[in-house]
Amino acid sequence: MAQRQDSVTEAYLGRTQRSQALYKHALELMPGGTTRSTTFYTPNPAYIAKGEGCYVVDIDGNRLIDFLNNYTSLILGHAHPKVVEAVTAQVQLGSAFAAPTEREVRLAELIGARVKSVEQIRFANSGTEATMFAMRLARAHTGRPKIAKFEGGYHGTHDYALVSTSPSLDAAGADDRPEVVLDSPGVPPATAAQVVVLPFNDRDATAAIVRAHKDELAGIIVEPVMGAGGIIAPRDDFLGFLRQITRDHGMLLIFDEVISLRLAPGGAQELYGVTPDLTTMGKIIGGGFPVAAFGGRADVMAFTDARRSGALAVPHGGTFNGNPVGTAAGIATLELLTPDVYARLNQLGELVRQRLNDLFARRREKAQAIGVGSLFNIHFTAGEIRNYRDVARSDRARMKRFHLALLNHGVMLAPRGMGAISTPMREAEIEALVAAVDEALTDTRP
Ligand SMILES: Cc1ncc(COP(=O)(O)O)c(C=O)c1O
Repeated sequence: MAQRQDSVTEAYLGRTQRSQALYKHALELMPGGTTRSTTFYTPNPAYIAKGEGCYVVDIDGNRLIDFLNNYTSLILGHAHPKVVEAVTAQVQLGSAFAAPTEREVRLAELIGARVKSVEQIRFANSGTEATMFAMRLARAHTGRPKIAKFEGGYHGTHDYALVSTSPSLDAAGADDRPEVVLDSPGVPPATAAQVVVLPFNDRDATAAIVRAHKDELAGIIVEPVMGAGGIIAPRDDFLGFLRQITRDHGMLLIFDEVISLRLAPGGAQELYGVTPDLTTMGKIIGGGFPVAAFGGRADVMAFTDARRSGALAVPHGGTFNGNPVGTAAGIATLELLTPDVYARLNQLGELVRQRLNDLFARRREKAQAIGVGSLFNIHFTAGEIRNYRDVARSDRARMKRFHLALLNHGVMLAPRGMGAISTPMREAEIEALVAAVDEALTDTRP
């Protein structure tokens, strides 16, 4: 095994020599040589020179099919002409003002027309900010201090989000009673007392935990389809159950649709027919730029109304909120995303899962491709995947080698095996993915 493992790394090092040199230099300047935890992997990341449609080219000249799409955000692929045109026009008019613009109003209109639960919206720059404000609004509205989230759920990098996103199974406690595990030193220990952790797709356990904290819980935040946790779909109307239990106990239901908004014009809430009180968004709504948003019930969103003061006001500053360049890109992107486009993306996603699962079966691999619509995730386990723990028990060491092997065969996926479809992709790219996976499976055979 060590022999094969080395050959994958050797091949990777052989084709990324310029990246290695830049990485060594970058290490002197930035801890770990990158500025984003998720763009780092060993032995060194490939530094990208440019993107074209659904391809990226690294600084060594390797051309890769980009199934990662900046972690699912580039739904139109790279440098779509309409987005480039909209952004260029705006940059020439100025890139940021200490004033609102028509752009933010137009993007608000577009999102509000599609995402039915969004009566009012505010823009931010990252999903992290969006979930931080949504949680704060839930506390402000209910006057209760705690937020419940799911084990394995990812909501960004603020203190309340960095809880039990990827706990070690040794520390995670019983399946039906997950421990609250802080993910990072530096998160205030007091955070653990303010966050309640729930097991995804487990109604009974979730109901018991929620009831135990019912008078202190302001709301539940959930990714309708678990994203970073492994693209895990909700089962047996789990979202409908969350809607009911939050309503019963006077809590807010927050859907974190930063990733799942790409599943339908109205997001996963449209797909599953469940209406949250608040929704957080990011990724695709910025058309490749840092735009995020939180929106929902007008009476809750009203806390951010600058005409308010005192105990009725949640200040929402942000130097680049509603930035005209980002919102121009977001408008151009959403205008191109008609219902037919979502349908085509979702069909291609389905094709990926089918073709990969056929391949795994033919090769008798303990692996599976799961997901919803245009989102997919490969996992090295034959067992059923319902929640974070099922993924945590998969063969993650093989996934790591497999990711590198796929790069060697010209395909970029997330190191954890996640991928997404973008509009420039055709069946040819899906076939190329399947061929690359076949080779990478051979390269990493246990
Ligand atoms: C569901 C979800 N919420 C929030 C975030 C945080 O977004 P950002 O990285 O823009 O801060 C992410 C990022 O991947 C996400 O997937």
